[in-house]
Amino acid sequence: MQCGFCTPGMVMTAAALLKENPKPSEAQVRAYLEGNICRCTGYHNIVKAILAASGQDVAPSRRNNQRGFFGRRRSE
Ligand code: FES
Repeated sequence: MQCGFCTPGMVMTAAALLKENPKPSEAQVRAYLEGNICRCTGYHNIVKAILAASGQDVAPSRRNNQRGFFGRRRSE
């Protein structure tokens, strides 16, 4: 999340999805979010957060595996 403008809609949509489908696939999450526009992010962390909220394992973020935006290894 960056500016947070889309957050209320994302949260309400995620709650409705998980009520309807407690274990959605990534594709189902992305399809369900289709009407919610976020101008700041690439939706990836939003989708991961919904999958995690459903109790499903999600891949570690790039930050956790020490890779930068383009997948290069950080030098520090
Ligand atoms: S975080 Fe800015 S619109 Fe989604």
